[in-house]
Amino acid sequence: MARRKKIYEGKAKVLYEGLEPGTLVQYFKDDATAFNAEKKAVIDGKGVLNNRLSEFFMTGLANIGIPTHFIKRLNMREQLIRQVEIIPLEVIVRNVAAGSMAKRLGLEEGAPLPRPIVEFSYKDDSLGDPLVPEEYIIAFGWASQQDLDDIISLALRVNDWMSGVMFGVGIKLVDFKIEIGRVWDNEFPRLLLADEISPDSCRLWDIETGQKLDKDVFRQDLGDLADAYTEVAKRLGVMPSNVTHATKPTLIN
Ligand code: TMP
Ligand code: ASP
Repeated sequence: MARRKKIYEGKAKVLYEGLEPGTLVQYFKDDATAFNAEKKAVIDGKGVLNNRLSEFFMTGLANIGIPTHFIKRLNMREQLIRQVEIIPLEVIVRNVAAGSMAKRLGLEEGAPLPRPIVEFSYKDDSLGDPLVPEEYIIAFGWASQQDLDDIISLALRVNDWMSGVMFGVGIKLVDFKIEIGRVWDNEFPRLLLADEISPDSCRLWDIETGQKLDKDVFRQDLGDLADAYTEVAKRLGVMPSNVTHATKPTLIN
């Protein structure tokens, strides 16, 4: 089969032209990066796990009425999505202090926050995705005040659903990042949840042990990243049957 036209290649995914106009194929790579790609590795099976997990989250969110770009999973590593104009923001929701917030404010990692907090970073790797106030977003025309109000309410709904689902399998949703896309239905702009939701873009802690089950395992060298993602997939019942993650040798008597 002739290879489809590549539209964009990011750090963890590749986008190809879809068969139908207005669609794309999103391919999940095994590449992991951290600290603005200063640290890199290939993690066997990560792409397969994230494809499944993102399908699971996007489908569940669509079921509670959140509009998303997800159409269907095509195979182990690819999903069909709607083509959107990505708003150049990382929308971050935090329930517990961790990561850059803990560092910036001198908070202890794990300190509870008074309420979920939504913040925005400007998506630009060369600048290190700097945190930006709403005033910048509106003044530079990245999104309108109405868009921001809609994005905050969407992000909080995603947080409520995701927190509940993860709590149900013994995992605390500490924080996560989403991206929002715009589509035009006739002349009317609509916002959709885009990109991916996976342990690459969330912080997930085991409620009983505090064990990290997200990309911090890679950022902080805490163990095998694919094992952590496999644990999340298993608990959610979305473990793909033949992930290419190397199996450990077993002794045969
Ligand atoms: P932070 O604490 O490093 O700002 O990260 C907040 C959340 O956003 C965390 O769940 C990890 C996620 N995230 C991404 O998805 N991509 C990124 O490039 C960064 C820095 C964080
Ligand atoms: N995604 C970013 C990078 O690849 C940062 C991170 O997730 O820590 O460098």
